[in-house]
Amino acid sequence: MNGFVRRPWDLPQSLHTPLEVFRAPRPSRREFLLEMSASALLLAGCQKAPTDQELTAAGAVAIDTSKYPASRSTRFEYGRTESIKRDTEQFANFYEFTSSKEVFRHISGFNPTPWSFEVTGLCKNPRTYDLDQIVSTFPLEERAYRHRCVETWAMCVPWTGFALRDLITAADPLPTAKYVRFETFMRPAEARQQLDSNYPWPYQEGLTLAEATNELAFIATGIYGAPLPKQNGAPVRLVVPWKYGFKSIKSIVKIELTDKQPSTFWNSLNPHEYSFEANVDPAVPHPRWSQQYEWMLGSRENFDTVKYNGYGEWVARLYEPG
Ligand code: MTE
Repeated sequence: MNGFVRRPWDLPQSLHTPLEVFRAPRPSRREFLLEMSASALLLAGCQKAPTDQELTAAGAVAIDTSKYPASRSTRFEYGRTESIKRDTEQFANFYEFTSSKEVFRHISGFNPTPWSFEVTGLCKNPRTYDLDQIVSTFPLEERAYRHRCVETWAMCVPWTGFALRDLITAADPLPTAKYVRFETFMRPAEARQQLDSNYPWPYQEGLTLAEATNELAFIATGIYGAPLPKQNGAPVRLVVPWKYGFKSIKSIVKIELTDKQPSTFWNSLNPHEYSFEANVDPAVPHPRWSQQYEWMLGSRENFDTVKYNGYGEWVARLYEPG
């Protein structure tokens, strides 16, 4: 995704060529070639594909695994082949750490334990949950969901978690509550891209209360039968499979019931490209690319995009006029 926050020629001061380097004598052709091959080797070393063990180690979070795997719900099916764990760990979006897909290379400083999140705002029972309380208050189940990123890549993964509506029911919303606002952590010391003030940190997302209490909206604490790895949003994230992936906010610290439509990260960066609603819809092209097709992580298989990502049976009525 690209919010056009910085133009390629807008180099920060730290990347300007220092005057002494600009004025230094030029290397000979031989010196230049030697230096180029050394850099190429270095680059190849850095970009080496990680082993499965390296990937798992990069994303591992030291938390209680006794609730995993949870039993799989039979109500949801991909209708496609399940994505391979390695592919979904290797290719992720987590802008707090990097704009590249190789988030696993940038998360060693992220320490999501201990963790807590608050449910607050227009409700009768606001509450702060720590991780143990979350997984013991709400019975966990596994759901096979399709995921479609606005950038046209897609995956099919088994999330572990519980229905968001159970959390909202426990909070007991006031009649004035119309929206739910979600917020990710703000830890620039651990997530270096949060130092870049061109982005509206912290990452925020929002749903209408009707969307949030639809049975598909899911709070995930795990994936592939184990707690979430860091790059996939440890330790707790949202999953809304009928919407483009940017709505599925990661590493949540706050859920707020409110009477106003929340401002959201990508919509405030670029409202022409990323709407608040952001339902998967092949008939609405992105201004810079078509949304007619999607490709699967790993296999690169192509499919036609389906409205609501194929979940119309659950959610279409939410968008019917009147
Ligand atoms: N949540 C936060 N906090 N930060 C992000 O950058 N990226 C979003 C979403 N949630 C993002 C986020 C986007 S664009 C997508 S497609 C999904 O996470 C990707 O989820 P995955 O990396 O687990 O596949």
